[in-house]
Amino acid sequence: MPRPSARALEPLVLGPEGLRILDQRQLPGTEAWVLATDAAEVAAAIRAMAVRGAPAIGIAAAYGAVLAARICWAEPGPARPCWDQALAELGAARPTAVNLAWALDRMRRVADQHGLDPREALEAEARGIHAEDRAQNVAMARLGAAYLAAGSRVLTHCNTGALATGGHGTALGVVRTAWSEGRIERVYATETRPWLQGARLTAWELAREGIPVTLVVDSAAAHLIERVGISWLLVGADRIAANGDVANKVGTLGLALVARTLGARVMVVAPSSTVDMATADGAAIPIEDRGGEEIWRATGAKAPPAGIAFTNPSFDVTPARLIDVLVTERGVIEAPDRTRMAALFHTALHEAD
Ligand code: MRU
Repeated sequence: MPRPSARALEPLVLGPEGLRILDQRQLPGTEAWVLATDAAEVAAAIRAMAVRGAPAIGIAAAYGAVLAARICWAEPGPARPCWDQALAELGAARPTAVNLAWALDRMRRVADQHGLDPREALEAEARGIHAEDRAQNVAMARLGAAYLAAGSRVLTHCNTGALATGGHGTALGVVRTAWSEGRIERVYATETRPWLQGARLTAWELAREGIPVTLVVDSAAAHLIERVGISWLLVGADRIAANGDVANKVGTLGLALVARTLGARVMVVAPSSTVDMATADGAAIPIEDRGGEEIWRATGAKAPPAGIAFTNPSFDVTPARLIDVLVTERGVIEAPDRTRMAALFHTALHEAD
């Protein structure tokens, strides 16, 4: 029987004063809002991860383009160079999630079509991107949930919920819908070091809706899959290449390898805005390195320790051969590969959409 859900999360709200962003760095302890009044402030919020998660980054960037348009078209002189520069800054905020470039390309096309004053059209487009993502999440959730047997135990990584998207979530959207249909007994969430998206955000999102969640340290996941009888690893994606390789939060590759070895299945849930048919395979996906500070700060140190080098890749690439099911709003691909990807996404999404 469907269970009642908590008040929907609305982490991105565009108003006349600017874009209000629920600051994910402070959750779950504090519900604080950042007000961005121009594109540079939106770019800074994306870089600093006040807003994060591939679809949410794309939506925030689209709203950033609206804020830039409000400023550039209100000033005397040619507006387009001012606006193009703002979009370049937004586009450079984070490199891996392709939703960012995808959303900005959509905004550019609208500006091209409404040359003299595109402000109204741009705002409608950004709101449309937001609403579409929410609807796509719900569609994907139905498709993905159908794969889960009643009473499944699932493992998820990072945060793929309402905070990371336009609402409902990608992998967590499948969890929400599957829970409401009685298909989930319990969700196991990894902490997701070093930024703790799982510990701070996923656990919070699930608990506030009464969905049973157990938090585990990242390194316990293999043990858990072996001992607890996890049937599915459910994850989102930041970029999916033309051959079905998936870039997602670092750790996903290890989890997928363990899942394959121990008999759990792997489901990736992502909207087509995360598919990048112009990138041939996972090796060509840029991987963000967020620097050592996120690692050494976790030890409580006040300064970087001497004599130690750090590498902090924020994402890794799971090869298509480890993925059992790829769920998008356009349909599901089982055992994704280049041919099946091309059949579902027959146009080069980021070139010809
Ligand atoms: O660094 P983040 O928190 O932006 O990384 C987010 C992820 O890797 C998510 O799993 C991915 O964006 C899919 S979320 C819908």
